[in-house]
Formats: sequence, structure tokens, C-alpha cells
Amino acid sequence: MVGLFDSGSGGLNTVRYIREAVDVDLVYLIDRENAPYGIKTKKELVRITERNIRRLLDMGAERVLIACCTASTVYKSIGKEYREKAIPIIEAVANTAKYSTRSGRIGVIATKRTVDSHAFSRALPGCKTYELSLGELVGMIDSGLSDETVTEADEVRLEKMLKPVLAKNIDTLILGCTHFPSLKETARKIASRYGVTSIVDSARVGADLLIEASEKLNLNG
Ligand code: DGL
Repeated sequence: MVGLFDSGSGGLNTVRYIREAVDVDLVYLIDRENAPYGIKTKKELVRITERNIRRLLDMGAERVLIACCTASTVYKSIGKEYREKAIPIIEAVANTAKYSTRSGRIGVIATKRTVDSHAFSRALPGCKTYELSLGELVGMIDSGLSDETVTEADEVRLEKMLKPVLAKNIDTLILGCTHFPSLKETARKIASRYGVTSIVDSARVGADLLIEASEKLNLNG
């Protein structure tokens, strides 16, 4: 069995991608009790991350995906016994962006904690990275905003929110919070007007990492 956790609907995006691709024994924890993660201190996030990994290991998970960019920023600070069993996602998300970009100009939208950590720009040496904190979008998505429910007025608002990063002449936009792929098609539509050609979906990258781990453990049916 493999496991994953996140603070809310972001983890459900990851679970959906995994379920669409493979039949694997999966346990997932949607940690609404501690949501949102994006406004937690580093110390609080370390505690939450260690606790969630422990809970999933106790439930029988052999590997645990930290299916959340914000929690993944503290991976290096969690105890060794947790690190050995856990898979963080930031570096793999950044690598996907590295392969997509032609200009080396990359935008990142993420929570405040992720932006303050500069985990993405540190994982993208040699690229010009523009990080924008959009924590309020997490709550909007948890309250039901998605590609399916978005209205014209929402689109106008979203364009305003994204503009500071879209105006930087980027060609790749990282959805650096696993909640944001709920609005992937809307983001793609808006961003394409500014010349963005690639959208990197952090939930998809996380799903691929867990699928790869379960293949290595020989767990896929
Ligand atoms: N979905 C999470 C992420 O990938 C965090 C959302 C939150 O709880 O603030 O960063």
C-alpha cells in the first residue's frame, strides 16, 4: 500500500490522476483539521508533516507522497525516519518546468509559505523565476471554484490575480500548489493570451511520482 496527504482538495486532484492511471492500493489523508497549510509557520508544518507521515505508515503505507507543495518545502527539516519513507514533490515539479521552458522564464503561483521559502526558484538555477503568492485561491477552490464552475466574472478576477506573474514575459507557468490544477484549463486559457505555452500541474507530477514508487514496490495491479 502507498499513501499520500494534503490539506484539502489538492490531494483529491492527485488521487484522481492516480486512479485514472493505475489500480493501486492507496490510502490518503485529507488533513482539513490543519488547513490551510500555506499560512502555517515552518515549525508547525514540520510537526504536521511528520504526524501525517506517521499516521499513514501506521495505516500500512510503505511509501508516503507529500502530495502538497507547501508541506514539501519542509522535507529536508523532517526527521530522518520520515524522510526515508516520504516523497516530496517540489524538485520533480521544477524539473518538469525546466524541460518545458524555452526562454528560461518561469512563473510560479503557490501559497505564501511556498513563495517565502523560495523552494521553486532554488530548484530552478539558471532560470528566471517569478514567484507569486496566491493563497486566497486555495480557499476559493476548497469552496468549489473549478474549471467546471468558473463564471466570466471569476475569469476576470483570476486574470487580475495572475497578471503580476503573466506580465513577466514567461513561457511556462507552474501551478505550484496542488489545489490549482482544479482551474488548470482556465489558467491555460488566460495564460495563453500572455504567451505562456506550458502549464505545469503539480498534482499530476505528484501522481506520477507515487505511481513510479508503487511500480518499484511491485504494487500495481
Ligand atoms: N495544496 C497545498 C499545496 O500544494 C496547500 C494548500 C494550503 O493548505 O494552503 O501547496
